[in-house]
Amino acid sequence: MDQRHVRTVFWEDHQVKLIDQRVLPHRFEIAAFDTVEGVARAIREMYVRGAPAIGATAAFGMALAARISPATTPEALLADLRRAKEVLDAARPTAVNLSWATARLLELAQALADADPDTLRQALLDEAQALADEDVEINRRMGFHGARVIPSKANLLHHCNTGRLATVDFGTALGVVYACQELGKEIHVWVDETRPRLQGARLTAWELMQAEVPMHLIADNAAGHLMRTGQVDVVIFGADRVAANGDVANKIGTYKLAVVARENGIPVYCVAPTSTVDLSLPDGDHIPIEERDATEVTHVQGTAVAPEGAPAYNPAFDVTPHRYITGIVTEEGICYPPFTESLRDAVERGRQRVAENRRRRLARLLGTEKGQT
Ligand code: MRU
Repeated sequence: MDQRHVRTVFWEDHQVKLIDQRVLPHRFEIAAFDTVEGVARAIREMYVRGAPAIGATAAFGMALAARISPATTPEALLADLRRAKEVLDAARPTAVNLSWATARLLELAQALADADPDTLRQALLDEAQALADEDVEINRRMGFHGARVIPSKANLLHHCNTGRLATVDFGTALGVVYACQELGKEIHVWVDETRPRLQGARLTAWELMQAEVPMHLIADNAAGHLMRTGQVDVVIFGADRVAANGDVANKIGTYKLAVVARENGIPVYCVAPTSTVDLSLPDGDHIPIEERDATEVTHVQGTAVAPEGAPAYNPAFDVTPHRYITGIVTEEGICYPPFTESLRDAVERGRQRVAENRRRRLARLLGTEKGQT
């Protein structure tokens, strides 16, 4: 199997299949899930992680819920889908792509409430597949928008994993790196190891080495030194949720990078699809921050590094206030301050694009006039 051509999440044999990111880079394994609870567990236990990949997984989880539901009426099927949405949404709190994706599937089901259950099941699977395909297409667009702000020869500092493993394929911030590579730019990436779960050391290093992008892995604590000594041209990362004012929740440690970058006059770009923008929240203080098990801090890959019983605290994300962010790269273009306006416009264009694609798909499935949901 050519590992580079396997999507992070896909539907096969009536199951949701995921690259098991818990065991990378040492083993490449595909895990299969055939219950909604199983899909929720896969998100919670981080078989799959990264905001867009979590969204696509949840979308397939909704399609799975419809498929395994014994419902014979649209009302009963809708009730099962509402329950599935609750189970999936509860898996992780910070990445808004999760509830964005389940809401998108549920809205479609509600709009088709007069269709027979089997047509609805097919429409939901088509929608989940479309969401996954769109993710790849969106990431490529985002990557090439972002490449415009990267010099032809540059050292980038990157946090966590935002590549093909964090999305269905291609990536967000690492998508910019791949776009630069395709454009022939001379890029070198400083890869933050990203404690506690080491998404940088385990996943980003694996991806970049497979793609033959020049890189060095660094301890998280090395980032400030590299910035102060002129070895970083651009700081680049993804997002799990962007508030209406441009405040960005991303992997713990991002805030510290952005502040040190500002101190050293280095531009900071966040790369995130409009599905990661949550216009319902005025600022980052309203974003729920996931707290994960303390053993992720006291242990490294299952091995204890702290004295037994040491108390530990493990917030998984932090918020970077928008004043530290030079631009937010979306699939609709690069948003600059004032973010309240630029993000609102980008989200609106993104919504219109999704609605138009869905209208065309439904017209094919149901006949032209019913495509107008
Ligand atoms: O806890 P994780 O690994 O799900 O956190 C992922 C991140 O913080 C990513 O930077 C973010 O989801 C953007 S990925 C395209």
